[in-house]
Amino acid sequence: MAKTKRRLRPAKHLKAVPAVETWSRPWWRGAVFYQIYIRSFADSNDDGIGDLQGIISRLEYLKRLGVDAIWITPFYPSPQKDHGYDVADYYDVNPEYGTLKDFDEVVSRAHALRLKVLVDLVPNHTSDQHPWFQAALKSPDDPHRSLYYFADGKPDGSPPNNWESAFGVPAWTKDDRSGQWYMHLFAPEQPDLNWWNPKVPKEFEKILKFWLDHGADGYRIDVASALFKRKDLADRPTVKDPVTGQPKLDATFKMIDQPEVHEVYRAWRRILNQYQPPRVLVGEIFEPRRQARYILPDQLDMAFAMVRARWNAALWKRSIEVDQRASPGPVAAPSWTQSNHDVVRHVTRLGGGFMGRARARAALLLLLGLPGQAFLYQGEELGLEEVDVPPDQRQDPFFILSGGKEAGRDGCRVPMPWSRGLPNAGFSTVAPWLPTPPGWDRYAVDAQDGSAGSMLTFYRRVLALRRQLVGILPNQVRWCPAPQGVLVYEHGRLTVAVNFLGRPVELVSRGRLLIATHPLASHRKGRLILPANSGAWLDNLAP
Ligand code: NOJ
Ligand code: CA
Repeated sequence: MAKTKRRLRPAKHLKAVPAVETWSRPWWRGAVFYQIYIRSFADSNDDGIGDLQGIISRLEYLKRLGVDAIWITPFYPSPQKDHGYDVADYYDVNPEYGTLKDFDEVVSRAHALRLKVLVDLVPNHTSDQHPWFQAALKSPDDPHRSLYYFADGKPDGSPPNNWESAFGVPAWTKDDRSGQWYMHLFAPEQPDLNWWNPKVPKEFEKILKFWLDHGADGYRIDVASALFKRKDLADRPTVKDPVTGQPKLDATFKMIDQPEVHEVYRAWRRILNQYQPPRVLVGEIFEPRRQARYILPDQLDMAFAMVRARWNAALWKRSIEVDQRASPGPVAAPSWTQSNHDVVRHVTRLGGGFMGRARARAALLLLLGLPGQAFLYQGEELGLEEVDVPPDQRQDPFFILSGGKEAGRDGCRVPMPWSRGLPNAGFSTVAPWLPTPPGWDRYAVDAQDGSAGSMLTFYRRVLALRRQLVGILPNQVRWCPAPQGVLVYEHGRLTVAVNFLGRPVELVSRGRLLIATHPLASHRKGRLILPANSGAWLDNLAP
């Protein structure tokens, strides 16, 4: 056991590479980003809602975790119908979260710790409380009307077309006063902006500059490919399913993603390049096929490569390769992620409990060993699981609009547990906006801090090792032959091996063990033993 511990120490012989800008490597290449869901991260004033001062109070924690940058979910004034993704004012901070001054302090304190700060930009829609939409509702002749999609219904009284919103309700709501309908690809309180109207792109260039001038290092762009809708607003056709023969909506129909969106990002890129170092853009685009049209030197820097495959070696390999093909070229590489505020936490997806956490550790080694960036979602470093929030306390519009048929996304948004033995796991003294379940404090940061076997300690070790490696590894990986159910690749001097099986495997592998997810993993005389659901990193150049 003592031997295993010695092997898990950071490798002293690897040269430390600071996460700084060099002429050949912008700071964000290979960086690890940490997503802060502000409402649930840290609450500085005990009102049950996370806030900017809360973030400030935990910057040291994030630094010690070993990330390079934070992305903060929307903190603008908002009626919170979609928890900040319904923006009423793009130039201010929601009083629940603090003030502009607090934002400036987040930036300066983060920068002092050499952490970058990304702001979440929501250009596809505003809140229905935004002054533009409020003005638009006043009369059908109001000029603000053309900043949104208002249209007449069909003669039979139904909406202008058959499009559905992402929340499962029709994408149109009737404005009773005028009798017309307005479009919303999300909740009715999130009317879509009409990007064909030049006033919209013009306004967003102003917004873009505003936060950059406040020191932001870049943006995560919400629903980045959806800004322009097809001009004819045609019905999505029904086609015959080739397998079942049943009629279904045509999945190939292009509702969004019109070519004009690329001009917008080219203009944004020109603005971002006026700052030194150039600021970054991460698009919320998940489909690998789409990404190649956006991740270009004159447009976006990154988009998300989310691996959500079942725990199966072949499926994971396929998912990784599909994402790698979407980032071709000598330097581009995917931005790996497993979780965010919209999906079931990956420990739960991977089977939950002890097994889910074991697999999550192995999955972390698999993804963080690859070339590219990594996006972590708050709490995954604690091994948090999806919470079954009591239905009467759920708040997600997805849950509400589906009439309770959809579970919604509250389960991955439950407040961070900071302290063992305190009410609400130390998040706040009053009941937080979403309840923490009984026993949530067993995951608390202070319960895991300093414990050799904890998930938090494992994350810190992996990120410290990665920091040593990221600047000295090439941009290519080579998959190595491995038994079924096992994945092995070489990324320069790093060898990564993951056992997806429910039983141990023995592999032939040269080098020296850098880190393993399981205390019983071992490497002796060129033989690597990986227990069930485990993984390891090896330095294949070490004797
Ligand atoms: C994507 C965001 O991640 C999600 O939380 C939100 O509901 C939609 N975009 C709409 O803004
Ligand atoms: Ca608060």
